[in-house]
Amino acid sequence: MQILDGKLVAQTVKEDLKQKTDILKREGKKPPHLAAILVGHNGASETYVASKVRTCEELGYQSTLIRFETEVTEDELLQKIRELNQDDGVDGILVQLPLPAQISEEKVINTISAQKDVDGFHPANIGKMIQGQPAYIPATPYGILLLLEYYKIETKGKHAVVIGRSNIVGRPISILLSQNTPTGNCTVTICHSHTRNLKDICLQADIIVAALGKPEFLTADMVKDGAVVIDVGITRVPDAGKKKGYALKGDVHFETVAPKCNYITPVPGGVGAMTIAALMKNTYLAAIQRN
Ligand code: GUN
Repeated sequence: MQILDGKLVAQTVKEDLKQKTDILKREGKKPPHLAAILVGHNGASETYVASKVRTCEELGYQSTLIRFETEVTEDELLQKIRELNQDDGVDGILVQLPLPAQISEEKVINTISAQKDVDGFHPANIGKMIQGQPAYIPATPYGILLLLEYYKIETKGKHAVVIGRSNIVGRPISILLSQNTPTGNCTVTICHSHTRNLKDICLQADIIVAALGKPEFLTADMVKDGAVVIDVGITRVPDAGKKKGYALKGDVHFETVAPKCNYITPVPGGVGAMTIAALMKNTYLAAIQRN
């Protein structure tokens, strides 16, 4: 069993981006600039956005963090996005999800300029991705592909089972794994809350992507020997023994599943670390394409 070390791979991706950014600066060009919008005070969102801003600093990118209170109106938020769309100094825009109930995520995503949509959530980017055209690929699926590529994991002809059909992870990764690319050519089954015989389907999987957001859902009896298991879950579970009062749990029961696997991602230090590296790659690309 080999651990897919997201921290290590993310570090190599980030070092490459830092070098490229240093070169841009030496050539007198401006570094990539990411604008992040955070609404409210959701603990996990705060952590993610802080980490994105910190990583920008590490790589020599410019970053702008824009905060709104939970009560912000949809119009105010959309107006700020339009401003950032027009701002020539900004290369990438992300609005951290989830958003409060009064704001339509769909409207927010559709308002971000597709050229600055480094999250890859805009319908224009999703459409291009589905057609195999160059597009911003959502950061978590992109991060998974980078991990598979780094560890040279064969995907061609494999049966991949994706548990979860979210727009952010499950649906895009299921498409990407099925495409005719070096990290694709899988036969893909997408499972969700209405899937029957989930255990039987998982037992047929060479690759399982667990992205349903239920801590320790995937257990050893659902995984065949030699499988590759990618754990996208990252749920805060109350734990009085921890300093922060919670532990981070993946969607996979790691202790029992890991011994059966050829490869498995840990939580933390797996997919999560890769997500930010992939976002930074998209932001660099946005800067290059715009300038
Ligand atoms: N919320 C959970 N994952 C993501 C992500 O990748 N991007 C944004 N903007 N919000 C998220």
